[in-house]
Amino acid sequence: MCGIVGYTGKNQAITYLLEGLQTLEYRGYDSAGVAVLSPDGGLHGVKCAGRVSTLVERCKTANLVGTTGIAHTRWATHGAPTDRNAHPHMDCSGRIAIVHNGIIENFRELRSYLSRNGHELVSDTDSEVIAHLIEDAWKGPAAGDLVAAVRNACQRLEGSWALAVTCADVPGKLVCARKGSPLVIASTEDGAYAASDVTPLAAISSHVIQLDDDQFALLVEDGSVTVFDREGMEVANPSTIDIDWDASAATLGGYADFMAKEISEQPEAIERLLKDRLGKHGIEMDELSMTSEELAAIDRIYLVACGTSYHVCLIARDMIESWAKIPTLCEYASELNYKEPLVTDNTLCVIVTQSGETADTLTAARRMRALGCKVFAVTNVLGSTAARESDGTLYVQAGPEVCVASTKAYTAQMVACALLALRLAFAKGEMDRNEVGRHFHNLEALPDLIREVIARRWQDKHAAQVFRNARSALFLGRGVNSTTAYEGALKLKEISYLHAEAYPAGEMKHGPIALLEPGFPVVTVVPADHIHDKTVSNIQEVIARGATCVAVATDGDRDVAALCHDVLWIPPVPEERLIPIVAIVHLQMLARYVARARGRDVDKPRNLAKSVTVE
Ligand code: F6R
Repeated sequence: MCGIVGYTGKNQAITYLLEGLQTLEYRGYDSAGVAVLSPDGGLHGVKCAGRVSTLVERCKTANLVGTTGIAHTRWATHGAPTDRNAHPHMDCSGRIAIVHNGIIENFRELRSYLSRNGHELVSDTDSEVIAHLIEDAWKGPAAGDLVAAVRNACQRLEGSWALAVTCADVPGKLVCARKGSPLVIASTEDGAYAASDVTPLAAISSHVIQLDDDQFALLVEDGSVTVFDREGMEVANPSTIDIDWDASAATLGGYADFMAKEISEQPEAIERLLKDRLGKHGIEMDELSMTSEELAAIDRIYLVACGTSYHVCLIARDMIESWAKIPTLCEYASELNYKEPLVTDNTLCVIVTQSGETADTLTAARRMRALGCKVFAVTNVLGSTAARESDGTLYVQAGPEVCVASTKAYTAQMVACALLALRLAFAKGEMDRNEVGRHFHNLEALPDLIREVIARRWQDKHAAQVFRNARSALFLGRGVNSTTAYEGALKLKEISYLHAEAYPAGEMKHGPIALLEPGFPVVTVVPADHIHDKTVSNIQEVIARGATCVAVATDGDRDVAALCHDVLWIPPVPEERLIPIVAIVHLQMLARYVARARGRDVDKPRNLAKSVTVE
């Protein structure tokens, strides 16, 4: 949700600012803007509604010269995505500029206070008040001290923020602040760089500072960075992280879009995750930070997440309950936050979050922790808030996921949860080393099975034609593959804007069957499993009403081949519970082909953003 970059140093700021925004664009893409401190002593900027590419074009003629600047790509919360509401926002004098990620909850009170006191606010955003509060502090109690002025302004804010601030009266310096929204900083010989997440910094430094909540940083053009706490005391050892991402991982590398690239990266992601995991005593998972006795004592698990990551939880619940025999509940984080969870003394809460920054998930985790649960995070992004606030973290190591629609993180997270379930099963005495080893070898078969599915993408391209004139689609599946149906429908609707609904196949006759009419597309996940024949009966019901059925089925299934309009074939998977990890790959590719046929930008679907940092 909104991307921020800042730079002060030896080089022209605009280069990093625009490249950084392009890398961060998955965080929001309603509008974008940049402000640079020019050698003439003024702050000059460009901002506009639309994508970063529009901003880049505008900047070509704007002659933004200067070595200190800030920039922003926006996902609108308060105020429409217009030029006026784009960041950076300025104070009345036009000498202070800010970019903000987060939400200022008390902005209405602050706006009327500022207006009453002679400030002229020109946008509809919550963020603009920050520039004016800094102006007040700069002219008053914090005169001449930009860090103090930002600290003073932040004391009046309620909500969440990552901020970068520049002031024309303080050349060669930037101030950053964080509360509840991530901000990372790199200190190099060329200068100091700030960004919302590590992606734009991966090519710049392998070691970055992570601001903690209520911290402030002063970035100076010689590359030095000083971090202060809320009292203004210098922090001797700010948090840091090592970035082990290859910078090229966030580039297209010859693919048409990031979605295609990330779908193709799934086998390697799973291989990385499984490497060296099987040890003498079952699954090695030191990240859990719990003793075998503590694990054996767990009597209830809450799996908490949003969106695609919630679908991971549905799959994980089945694995944990059937392998480790621990009662497990799945909760949407946004719902759990308004419920009374039934927590025992030995309840474990597992949060699943690709970004590690999803506000609902973080709030739920904090709440579960306050209720006495240990919290374990399954996440992809190194040093994310979820990782930092949890008792243990399992990184899924899928590499940067740039496409807004999650693909490789989904499959990697399912595999991570399978490892967790096996670890718990061993600790509980439900499986011995051999049994764990057998399941582990089944997991090791997944990368090649997924490669095989990806090689069959022509089947998805062909089946995409079924959706050419469709206005809606139904996805069906039974057992663990009802989740495959949910996730397939989510992928289709979010990137193609075609309405799609998913149901457990046996539930169709209780209502959704009324939707069926000749030509209505129904995608049914019907692999070779113990409920295969029941699902085939549902396909019969679909066909009998003239609807068009596209199936995901296992090689050699003649019944399905005879019934369905198109079949997306998967090779046999050695274990039923792992079928969703293979079957979904077809539905990811199908969604992509449908979206492309409709002329959609598959990487940046409308209204969405990669990391949802508002509740
Ligand atoms: C859909 C998608 C979203 C995310 C959800 C949670 O393709 O990506 O539904 O899964 O916003 O995000 P994370 O996993 O970062 O917490």
